[in-house]
Amino acid sequence: MDKGQIQQVLLNLMLNAIEVMPSGGELFIDSEIKDGRANIYLRDQGTGIPEDLRERIFESFLTGKTGGTGLGLTISKRIMRAHDGDLELIESGPQGTTFRISLPLNTG
Ligand SMILES: Nc1ncnc2c1ncn2[C@@H]1O[C@H](COP(=O)(O)OP(=O)(O)O)[C@@H](O)[C@H]1O
Ligand SMILES: [Mg+2]
Repeated sequence: MDKGQIQQVLLNLMLNAIEVMPSGGELFIDSEIKDGRANIYLRDQGTGIPEDLRERIFESFLTGKTGGTGLGLTISKRIMRAHDGDLELIESGPQGTTFRISLPLNTG
């Protein structure tokens, strides 16, 4: 894999999480190996993604921030797909938001 690109994805997700917890909170990062894939979960304690945005967060230029580019999630998903992996929104609500990135394990 392209280590720099995967680091970029993790950084994008962490910055988003930090930005939704301006008065503090925790960002939990868990990993598992399941069904031949390596999964990393990032769960924050922010206010969640507004329901009307949830379906569209991977679209380019969709941002809920003044000065946001709305490109972080778009590019991150593209990078994961280019690695035969994925980036998915697992859940989001008033208790926070969980994203999962996944990569296939190299069994060769
Ligand atoms: N962890 C999160 N919690 C709540 N909302 C989020 C989170 N991550 C992303 N979002 C929402 O999705 C939008 C798009 O994110 P992103 O593509 O990274 O663009 P940007 O950060 O430039 O706005 C954000 O503006 C925000 O509204
Ligand atoms: Mg962002």
